Amino acid sequence: MDLMVCVGSSCHLQHSRELIDRLKALILENNLEDKVELKGSFCMGQCAEQGVCVRFDDQVYSLTMDTVDGFFQDKVVAKAKS
Ligand code: FES
Repeated sequence: MDLMVCVGSSCHLQHSRELIDRLKALILENNLEDKVELKGSFCMGQCAEQGVCVRFDDQVYSLTMDTVDGFFQDKVVAKAKS
C-alpha cells in the first residue's frame, strides 16, 4: 500500500518533513515496513490552510501532527489488518 505525502511548497510550510518522520516512526512501531510504502508527491491540488495532504487508498487527507496518529490507526493499520 502506498502512503503518498505531499511535499509541495504549501504543504511544506505545514511541516510535511516532520509529518513524514512521524509516519516513518508509526510504520516501524506497527511493523508495517513490508506493507506500507511511504512516498513523496508533488502538489495534489488540495493545499489546505492547515495540514499536509496525504493520499491513502484513493482518498486525500489533510493531516497535522495532532491528527496523524489517529489517522494512522484508523485508516492504515485498519486496512493493513483487513
Ligand atoms: S502543496 Fe500539498 S496539496 Fe498543494
